[in-house]
Amino acid sequence: MASPPVLSRTLRYGGKADEARVSARAATLAAAVPLVFLHVNHQPSVSLPVGGTSVDVTLADLAILAVALTAVASGLRRGLRPTSVRYGRYRVLDVGCGVKPYLPFFEPFADAFVGVDVADNPHADVRGRVEDLPVEDGLFEIVLCNQVLEHCDDPTHAVRELRRVVAPGECVLASTHGVQVYHPAPEDLWRWTHAGRDRLFSQNGDWASLSVRPGSGTTACLGMLLAHYVDLVAQKARARVLGKPLVAALNLGARGLDRRVPSLRELIPGSLIATCHVVAEAPR
Ligand SMILES: C[S@@+](CC[C@H](N)C(=O)[O-])C[C@H]1O[C@@H](n2cnc3c(N)ncnc32)[C@H](O)[C@@H]1O
Repeated sequence: MASPPVLSRTLRYGGKADEARVSARAATLAAAVPLVFLHVNHQPSVSLPVGGTSVDVTLADLAILAVALTAVASGLRRGLRPTSVRYGRYRVLDVGCGVKPYLPFFEPFADAFVGVDVADNPHADVRGRVEDLPVEDGLFEIVLCNQVLEHCDDPTHAVRELRRVVAPGECVLASTHGVQVYHPAPEDLWRWTHAGRDRLFSQNGDWASLSVRPGSGTTACLGMLLAHYVDLVAQKARARVLGKPLVAALNLGARGLDRRVPSLRELIPGSLIATCHVVAEAPR
């Protein structure tokens, strides 16, 4: 992973440098293509010494070479460019991106999908902490931060950073654990109720709107925990494959029960919610 650049508008769009490159490519092609079709007898040529002899090189040869080099250079540049300039409409920042599991959902609609991670992560485009993002203000239309806040030193500062980098009128989509087993990555420090998450966001940003909704219900949370330990036991018994159907049945059954009993999906005293989803919209 590269050392952390500050993501700026210039870097994102390629700015004037990209426009100049595109114009130069177009000019090269416009000049070169007609030359390829000029009859060889009408072409000026130069003799280049090669070893003990000489080779006549026509303008058409040079034109073909220029076109080929331009194509290779443009292909290479596309491949080497950060993911940030490859796609369609939204610019998405995935903070604490892990293995970028959400990329497939946004890819068809995004013209940038930039992953930031604190760790030496081959999936990340930029290294950085959520509490101190190496990103210009208001640069991204969607800022994702899923299952990360529980790992960071200072969640209040982190939320202020998420607010800083989201564009006016656009959204932060965040989720954090209410209930989960201890899972350091590299630390595991916090858990929140839905009310705690609401307070964390409302006190650390001037949001135009804020919603905190349960990602699943109380039975799904219990099912998830039970399934986790079934999986651990199956691993210890070196029979993980055999444990999988039971894990799937526990998760599916629990979710099914939540769907049938509305009170199990509600945020009421006694509820147990694994993860809540936060949608925080920045003012225009
Ligand atoms: C549980 S994983 C979640 C990965 C991914 N967002 C997902 O939902 O699958 C937590 C991620 O947050 C990253 N992380 C931990 N502390 C962080 C921090 N202070 N700033 C940014 N990322 C952090 C970890 O390296 C890891 O990739």
